Amino acid sequence: MIALIVAFAKNRVIGKNGKIPWSIKGEQKRFKKLTTGNVVIMGRKSYEEIGHPLPNRDTIVVSNTMNYDSEHCKTAKSLPEAIEMAGDRDIYISGGAGLYKEAMDLVDEMYITEIDMEVEGDTYFPEFNAEDYVKRIDETFDGEIPYSYVTYIKKKGLIGRKVTVTVDRKLGTYHPKHPDIYYPVNYGYIKGIMAEDGEEQDAYILGVNEPVEEFTGEIIAILHRNDDVEEKWVVAPKGSHFSDEEIMRQVHFQEQYFDSYVSKGQ
Ligand SMILES: NC(=O)c1ccc[n+]([C@@H]2O[C@H](COP(=O)([O-])OP(=O)(O)OC[C@H]3O[C@@H](n4cnc5c(N)ncnc54)[C@H](OP(=O)(O)O)[C@@H]3O)[C@@H](O)[C@H]2O)c1
Repeated sequence: MIALIVAFAKNRVIGKNGKIPWSIKGEQKRFKKLTTGNVVIMGRKSYEEIGHPLPNRDTIVVSNTMNYDSEHCKTAKSLPEAIEMAGDRDIYISGGAGLYKEAMDLVDEMYITEIDMEVEGDTYFPEFNAEDYVKRIDETFDGEIPYSYVTYIKKKGLIGRKVTVTVDRKLGTYHPKHPDIYYPVNYGYIKGIMAEDGEEQDAYILGVNEPVEEFTGEIIAILHRNDDVEEKWVVAPKGSHFSDEEIMRQVHFQEQYFDSYVSKGQ
């Protein structure tokens, strides 16, 4: 697994004069939790700011001018070399700006701390197309400087992911406002994942033949709609297989009102 991890301000500032231009008690808790026991890759300047290898994890510094090799710290001359050095372990690319830019094509997940204020700075997180990602809001924090832990998941990497669907339309029930719509499958939403319409992401559950309150399975397909901003996810028990035609047949009760098609992600 290769991910990137960053904290940025509303204007995407990540640094100023070689330092992080805010200090918020507790804000780095998620960084510590996610990276402990794993590999952190960072640029030379980011490493210099910290000044030593991070405890309980391995650090790989990318530099062509310095050498920081010690027991839990290695130096690589490029990002691909650093990734190769890390082998099969979970990798978190943690800045700065150039490494983030290079990493963006490689990672399926971006763990972002969104600092809810504009900050003056000289180093920025690169621009990216938010439409290529699903945004999950993991936790928000109030305080003098509010911030949120969010995860951007690349849409291309969605298939096969484990998710939990909260069912608000159980199999065997009728739509509360449109009694002509009967639910032949369980249908619900995924808490915390925001869809394009600003609501939580909806999902059809296939392969479960009784009404359920909640279901954890994997995303097996995305239903795109040519005539709607929303897309729907299709979730099924791990390892199950449904052809595109079978998926369309099972979701026809609702998708018949839209120009929709199945995508398996690629
Ligand atoms: N908010 C956050 O989450 C966050 C995270 C990280 C950093 N920061 C901030 O960002 C600033 C530092 O970032 P930065 O972008 O200026 O510097 P940086 O990426 O940390 O370091 C730049 C140096 O790293 C090496 N390097 C980077 N990318 C490379 C590549 N693709 N190939 C080969 N070498 C590469 C080069 O070292 P050599 O010159 O030795 O060859 C380069 O001069 C600081 O202000 C820091 O506090 C913030």
